[in-house]
Amino acid sequence: MKVIAYAVRDDEIPLFDKWGKHYDIETTIVQENLREDNIKMASNFDSIIFLAEDTMNKNVLDKIKSMNIDYIVSRSVGVDNVDFAHANKLGIKVANIPGYSPNSVSEYALLSTLALLRKYNLYIKRVQMQDFRIKGLIAKEIRNQVVGIVGAGRIGSLTVKHFSGFFPKKILIFDNFQNDELKKYAEYVSMDEIYKECDIIVYHVPLIEETKYLIRKENIDKMKNGVFIINVSRGKVMNTADVIDALKSGKIGGAAIDVYENELPYFRFDKRETFIEDDMLRELLSIPNAIVTPHAAFYTDEAASNMVSVSLKNAREFYDTGNCSNIIKV
Ligand code: COI
Repeated sequence: MKVIAYAVRDDEIPLFDKWGKHYDIETTIVQENLREDNIKMASNFDSIIFLAEDTMNKNVLDKIKSMNIDYIVSRSVGVDNVDFAHANKLGIKVANIPGYSPNSVSEYALLSTLALLRKYNLYIKRVQMQDFRIKGLIAKEIRNQVVGIVGAGRIGSLTVKHFSGFFPKKILIFDNFQNDELKKYAEYVSMDEIYKECDIIVYHVPLIEETKYLIRKENIDKMKNGVFIINVSRGKVMNTADVIDALKSGKIGGAAIDVYENELPYFRFDKRETFIEDDMLRELLSIPNAIVTPHAAFYTDEAASNMVSVSLKNAREFYDTGNCSNIIKV
């Protein structure tokens, strides 16, 4: 069996080697992102392994179909980059890795919250400049906060449990599905109650029609003054311009932003000597109480290993049985 894997980072190369041998799959590595102009490299392979950062639009899917490839595997959890309507029309099956490490993202959400509450980024900046004052950096404690978790699936439910260890005043959850186990730690409420009551709101939602620009002016206006928001989901869950306005006015007291709606030309690249043409990103980076990181919440050794091993396992399952336990049915 032969697969081609795109967008492979240096740290994934030994993992593909190890797990390729384990599943008896010959893997060709491409370090570039998958794009319309390099998909032709995939001809003569049984399947393609890709990431959420890759292009999987109509044109790419048409080319995949023309190469007689019937199943493809994302090694991400989020699959909003895939045109599922078209994949279904072409009969191309898609699998992902639904739980490569919920802990990775959940722990990052905790880290981001603590960093915002403690103004940790500002301490680091000060000390790097040999400014050892603490003036102006008085912090808040979680025990005095009401925490809202929007989306309590695999990752969000872990975040609920993690927060419970810090004994906040209350934990509120919004999700369309209720998990009885979480009722030990939190209360399920409406989005309006989340906005009305929460001092901290953490977003763990997939990017779908209903969540696009969920964090927008109309909803920010309903939030408490000085609210902290943590977005470790997808950039387009947040209307960045509205969040920038709210950070500038103080309506939002701090934002931890690991994903940005126009991140692809920037995140993963060294832009130190480059002028950032994207005005919105430049402005966001200049706001002291915005902590921006380059879509890194997932990035742990456990997650990286599982993303590679399970993607190869998925490909092997498709090849052997024509089906896969992680197939996505949309
Ligand atoms: C995902 O798995 O959905 C992620 O967001 C991480 C990926 C872009 C590497």
